[in-house]
Amino acid sequence: MHKSKIITIIGARPQFIIAAAISRGIKNHYPDRIQEMIIHTGQHYDDNMSRVFFEELEIPEPEYNLEVGSGSHAYQTGEIIQRTEQILIKEKPQLVLVYGDTNTTLAGALAASKLHIPVAHIEAGLRSFNKSMPEEINRIGCDHVSTLLFSPTQTGLENLVREGFDPGTLPPYHIDKPGIYHCGDVMFDNVMYFSQIAEKKSHIIETLGLEGKDFILCTLHRPQNTDNASRLNKIMNTLNGISRENQALFILPLHPRTAKMLPQLLEAKLLESIDKNPFFNITAPMAYFDMLMLENRCQIMITDSGGVQKESYFFRKPCLVLRPESEWKEIIDLGTAVIVDDDTEMIRDTYYRFQKEPPQNFPPVFGDGKAAEFILNEFVKFLDSGLQE
Ligand code: UD1
Ligand code: UDP
Repeated sequence: MHKSKIITIIGARPQFIIAAAISRGIKNHYPDRIQEMIIHTGQHYDDNMSRVFFEELEIPEPEYNLEVGSGSHAYQTGEIIQRTEQILIKEKPQLVLVYGDTNTTLAGALAASKLHIPVAHIEAGLRSFNKSMPEEINRIGCDHVSTLLFSPTQTGLENLVREGFDPGTLPPYHIDKPGIYHCGDVMFDNVMYFSQIAEKKSHIIETLGLEGKDFILCTLHRPQNTDNASRLNKIMNTLNGISRENQALFILPLHPRTAKMLPQLLEAKLLESIDKNPFFNITAPMAYFDMLMLENRCQIMITDSGGVQKESYFFRKPCLVLRPESEWKEIIDLGTAVIVDDDTEMIRDTYYRFQKEPPQNFPPVFGDGKAAEFILNEFVKFLDSGLQE
């Protein structure tokens, strides 16, 4: 059978996690039809932001690591475009696969589309309607140069239709005649697949002394929060306050961006109060299985992460969203997650309300755990159509 070459371009933590489901699907269902080659852009490079995910999730070793590292948006995006272009010219893939909304996503999509290589975008259609977020620009740019667009939610599909994508388009698809799909969430596939494995392999509950204890799980890494002294102080002060007055245990695995900013931007008194609060546990970033265990066992999640918001829903946990808006309209509308932004009163009120009355209703809005299979079947149909070869 003729094998088609797909190049997957990934570089940031959530992309490693999502890509694992697609790589697994290729290995299990299409080993003779699809040859996957991975480019790691090097956007994330610390072991606990990158290597650990490749090992745990058994993601194939990348053929290329561009080692772009950190820098301004223009630096990161520009370097990835240039370095990716050379590889795409050499490797001549039939399809390029990008995920989400990072600089890696946009750069990969631009490099490929300008070489007339079709792009498949997984997590297409999500919108915050807030272009001060770099991710919003990345998503819109990427969607509009893609040929196959896979939205995890109905809202994502509707956003695409509002921007002029036609859900009635029939194959053969092309950059000017793209195919759009509502396919469910690949991160949900992963949670279904890895939760049992995490129960066996992770020891984080014992390591952090959490057996039989209630705790709150927090993550914080959006530049709107980490790079803005007023917001950062307000949020951390509110969380530390709740923790202190209730002796409530908070676990906060810290993204390296936030780890850098806390000592620079937090007021000295607050920093000291957090340091001395025995119930406020700031840790290094978690490996994925450890994170799944914490999500599974915690009472409430408080986050500005896109992926963690969704995972709160998968684990049927209430969630406070430390942002002014959310791309995950479904879970906000259902009330299992609440947009609290940096508003002290909202954070406190919502926290106490969820403590008293945790939400019970979590209807399936993220698919059936088979999004990756759906996506791969569409890839094969597209590749079989042969027009792009
Ligand atoms: C990026 C994505 C964001 C995503 C997040 C996932 C963009 C514009 N943003 O944000 O959408 O939610 O990844 O985690 O692409 N750093 C390290 N070690 C690392 C990686 C980063 O120390 O391995 C530090 C560096 O100081 C760096 C900062 O974190 O400047 C930010 O990293 P960067 O990749 O630019 O953005 P993220 O905030 O991680
Ligand atoms: N995650 C993890 N360890 C952590 C924090 C997050 O494994 O310490 C996982 C989380 O379970 C989710 C993904 O990383 O699957 C979300 O990535 P992140 O919050 O970095 O980015 P976002 O989703 O906001 O783009």
